[in-house]
Amino acid sequence: MRFHTRKWVKPEDLNANNTLFGGRVLAWIDEECALYSIIQLENKKVVTKYMSEINFMSTAEKGDIIEIGIEVVKFGKSSLTLNCEVRNKMNHETIVTVDNIIMVNLGEDGKPLSHNKTKIEYVKDRLAAQS
Ligand SMILES: CC(C)(COP(=O)(O)OP(=O)(O)OC[C@H]1O[C@@H](n2cnc3c(N)ncnc32)[C@H](O)[C@@H]1OP(=O)(O)O)[C@@H](O)C(=O)NCCC(=O)NCCS
Repeated sequence: MRFHTRKWVKPEDLNANNTLFGGRVLAWIDEECALYSIIQLENKKVVTKYMSEINFMSTAEKGDIIEIGIEVVKFGKSSLTLNCEVRNKMNHETIVTVDNIIMVNLGEDGKPLSHNKTKIEYVKDRLAAQS
């Protein structure tokens, strides 16, 4: 799993227990999955269709640095299934895992559209192929 994004837990990210608010983590996960899918599928119109069980295993506190990891589970026809883990950057303690997040590639009409992708691609390779 590659951990792409780091976040700094700030006062506005806390719940009434003064620990990291679960809703904030889910928003970070959703955005990370959207960005990852848009880059992989080369289409800005990608939406979240489904999230499997969300397992909060530990928490974080103000000032902690967390990181978000994404892994591709499956390339479908119009879908991309991702697996996500959020962990503490310093001690690698897992904060939350979501095993299956289904993102769907849409056409201009807002309906599912085949993305014709079958494997992970890297932007640097795409750019090198163009030059
Ligand atoms: C995304 C949306 C266009 C999909 O429409 P749909 O009628 O379910 O489309 P389909 O049944 O053709 O499914 C599309 C793909 O998603 C997959 N899929 C749909 N529901 C799924 C589920 N519950 N679990 C796993 N995969 C699912 C299908 O297997 C299909 O994958 P494939 O093309 O790779 O084989 C529609 O549900 C929608 O607009 N939902 C709202 C999305 C949104 O706005 N999200 C932001 C949060 S509000």
